[in-house]
Amino acid sequence: MSFPSICVFDSAEVAVRELAGEISELIRSRAAQGRMAVLGLATGNTPLPLYQELVRLHRHHGLSFANVVSFNLDEYMGLAREHPQSYWAFMHRHLFDHIDMPESHIHLPSGILPEADIAAHCAEYEARIRDAGGLDFQVLGIGGTGHIGFNEPGSPKDSRTRRVLLDELTRRDASTAFGGIDQVPTQAITMGCGTILEARRIVLLAWGPRKAAIVHTALRGPLTEQVSASFLQEHPNTSFFLDRDAASSLECLPSATPCRSVTTPPRRACVPG
Ligand code: GLP
Repeated sequence: MSFPSICVFDSAEVAVRELAGEISELIRSRAAQGRMAVLGLATGNTPLPLYQELVRLHRHHGLSFANVVSFNLDEYMGLAREHPQSYWAFMHRHLFDHIDMPESHIHLPSGILPEADIAAHCAEYEARIRDAGGLDFQVLGIGGTGHIGFNEPGSPKDSRTRRVLLDELTRRDASTAFGGIDQVPTQAITMGCGTILEARRIVLLAWGPRKAAIVHTALRGPLTEQVSASFLQEHPNTSFFLDRDAASSLECLPSATPCRSVTTPPRRACVPG
């Protein structure tokens, strides 16, 4: 069997409805069993429509997050929680402030740590994920360097949560939000590739033409530490949820078999990669 599956949607909005449906089924089925659902969450512009949809499901369709535990992929080093560009602030602004998830269930690496405590903090993050039973569902975006989390080129497949140096391209991509590249942190703490690949289900999201080339490289290029998203090729339960533009460099799209373009309804086509 070949994986991951590639799911091409008419738009990001249609894709996130599908994804939010899958996540809410997980949460509800776990709640019915009196169990927690463990989500791995991502930042960046890409998952924003997903978070809007989850908030909508909470407000208007009674989806409770009381039995959800979350672990974010990463955090910038040197940013306090209160910094508007911290991922802690981002996640609260776009998701946590609008749902009923207890604050004690929310986990992000800390960006403010004395040098001597960094290794122990990273090891504890790993232990917390393990103690929660591992990640049920990991949501990912993809960076310009092909990174997942902040696993920049050179990140080993078995890497764990650790401090990393940010690639120049990653810092340039973030420079507008920070008001200049000089303001962008040079380091971050990220879950490792190994940590991410242990998730039982992974969905990578990508929208727009800017992502087309790197999505192609991740799916069709060699497995390499230079593109950490390429490691997903070996994960048995990963899907790439793409809009048409992000899928536009994949050779079998938009119309040739076995890939199918998508209309609504049905809402999606999932095909083996
Ligand atoms: C940052 C995050 C990644 C994210 C990437 C892409 O680097 N650490 O997790 O996937 O940005 O961001 P965007 O979704 O804004 O393109």
